[in-house]
Amino acid sequence: MSSGRTIVVGITGGIAAYKAVNVVRAFVLRGDSVHVVATPAALRFVGKPTLEAISRNPVHTDLYEGVAEVRHVAIGQSADLIVVAPATANTIAKLAAGLADDLLGNAILASTAPLVIAPAMHTEMWNNAATVANVATLRSRGVIVVGPGVGQLTGSDTGAGRMEEPDTIVAAALVALDAADLSVGRRSDLAGKHVVITAGGTREPLDPVRFLGNRSSGKQGVALAQAALARGARVTLISANLEVAAPASADVRLVGTALELQAAVTDAAAGADAVIMAAAVADYRPAAVRADKIKKDDTGDTLLLELIRNPDILAGLAAAGQPGQVLIGFAAETEPDADRLLALGRTKMARKGCDFLVLNRVGWTEGFASDRNEITVLDRSGDIVCEASGTKMSVAGRILDLIA
Ligand code: C5P
Repeated sequence: MSSGRTIVVGITGGIAAYKAVNVVRAFVLRGDSVHVVATPAALRFVGKPTLEAISRNPVHTDLYEGVAEVRHVAIGQSADLIVVAPATANTIAKLAAGLADDLLGNAILASTAPLVIAPAMHTEMWNNAATVANVATLRSRGVIVVGPGVGQLTGSDTGAGRMEEPDTIVAAALVALDAADLSVGRRSDLAGKHVVITAGGTREPLDPVRFLGNRSSGKQGVALAQAALARGARVTLISANLEVAAPASADVRLVGTALELQAAVTDAAAGADAVIMAAAVADYRPAAVRADKIKKDDTGDTLLLELIRNPDILAGLAAAGQPGQVLIGFAAETEPDADRLLALGRTKMARKGCDFLVLNRVGWTEGFASDRNEITVLDRSGDIVCEASGTKMSVAGRILDLIA
């Protein structure tokens, strides 16, 4: 399954480049989309076909290819994380100086993603005053330096300078990614605030064993809860049949149906600073819940279900209108046309009366189960106040920026 993240792996010209293949492979097996940018020197150590086969993407090397699509900038901007493994002394020096004389240098300068480097060189080069100063400069800018390890080097000698093992590099990179995800936006800017978030999808029982439900996984709502907690908020998470774990430090209230969600959110919303209705709430529920399992023998070839409208919880909260409370609704639509999608969002905003409406497209493959999301946020007057795409965690950060 796709993680929804784009990872750029920069490979530079050291013998450890052959081990970088395993770094690429580990990210691919985790479901990340991996784009290798190799320096020309790296390709003298490991073949482009190997890197393309393992990364499942074209490998780029040349600054002067793909100029029309401004590739050197696009690669950097698309990255959720950049890992340079191995990072030679020469590459480290260029990074410290901010040089961009190759595709990798350009991609790194054009990126705001976390940068993880795994140095690999001989001990003397690692201990050289120039390298020591360059590494210190990079660390001071927040670059994460993994290793090098101490041990057998390329020749018969041993010492500091071995590139860290691929799984150690990948583990450090994942920590960097999580930290970056959680710190999207400003830290502690929700301290002392109470944020209520609904997540998941309601299930409306038909009989003791069946329900009418939807495909919402709850990932976006849980990401909002994690991001709000990371920014210092007290979070009440109204959890409707989540497919993912709720954060341990949230106050979690479990609900099943729309009516249960309504009772829980109405209770929690009293005095809350913000309410975010990320849950997919069933618009209708069965008029009667059968006490026994519905049987084919009793119903024949067709079965008609009578459904009744559920209350619109979001519109109800908006009508109740607690002063100073920020109310955010979601609108998941299947409309493929961007203009018509926006028009639907504006109509819905007028009907719901919330402060912000987060518009996103859903379908058989988009939206629900994915780790990524693409949103447009409208304010009360229907104006676009935010457009964001990326991991659900990074999108959560942008939504919380509106509250903060
Ligand atoms: O009307 P629609 O279902 O498209 O609206 C979606 C938004 O309204 C979501 O924020 C959802 O949580 C909320 N909603 C609600 N009560 C309903 C249906 C949806 O609060 N019965």
